[in-house]
Amino acid sequence: MTKKKLIAGNWKMNGSVEANDALVRTVIGGLQGATCTVAVCVPAPYLAQLQMLRHGSALELGAQDVSRHEQGAYTGEVSATMLKDFGVRYAIVGHSERRQYHGEDDQLVADKAKAALAHGITPIVCVGETLAEREAGHTEEVVRRQLATVIHTNGHCITEIVVAYEPVWAIGTGKTATPEQAQQVHAVLRAQLKAATPQADRVCILYGGSMNAANAASLLAQPDIDGGLIGGASLKAPDFLQIIAAAR
Ligand code: G3H
Repeated sequence: MTKKKLIAGNWKMNGSVEANDALVRTVIGGLQGATCTVAVCVPAPYLAQLQMLRHGSALELGAQDVSRHEQGAYTGEVSATMLKDFGVRYAIVGHSERRQYHGEDDQLVADKAKAALAHGITPIVCVGETLAEREAGHTEEVVRRQLATVIHTNGHCITEIVVAYEPVWAIGTGKTATPEQAQQVHAVLRAQLKAATPQADRVCILYGGSMNAANAASLLAQPDIDGGLIGGASLKAPDFLQIIAAAR
């Protein structure tokens, strides 16, 4: 059985009550006939708005981060339980922007994935190399190290995660990995998952990094690319809908 693809929008720190309303209504209006799962990962203050807007639709809701802690004196953090209160199904963890600007390391990312899983939220675990790491020939070593900590920390629950391969040099730059470059890394990640669980084929491995309406079909046609984590193009309803249509 072929598994359903997943197209997840990551709005990053964008949006307003008014703009979200127009964007989400248009996206939901275009979802009929979609054969993939579609989610939007929105800034935390808009979760309540999205919970209302998506009501009765097939659109799934995601957060962009989750705390490793359950509750307590952690100013500014948002727990998995709180996300559950708003019907959140996915939480991005370890996005390169959080690794780069907020000093998140592999163990923190793995702990966040664990906290999400403990509350029935699917973590979208991001891995990816910088341009310098790619040019030095370290791509495989970097993504394998990032994923290894998540596997080690989460044991058999690893079949419940989503992995997103996002080469840092392709994020927001308009420089997409070629389908072959992306597939090569996805195959490495799949093999690593296979070594950890006989059910590795169940795990969705998304590609992220300047995926758009023009390049989505060729990326999504690769055998180990099971969907996309879309930044900029998820803020434009027509582009996002074209990517969704390409995910068959
Ligand atoms: O989470 C999404 C990625 O960072 C990709 O962003 O599509 O704007 O390159 P982008």
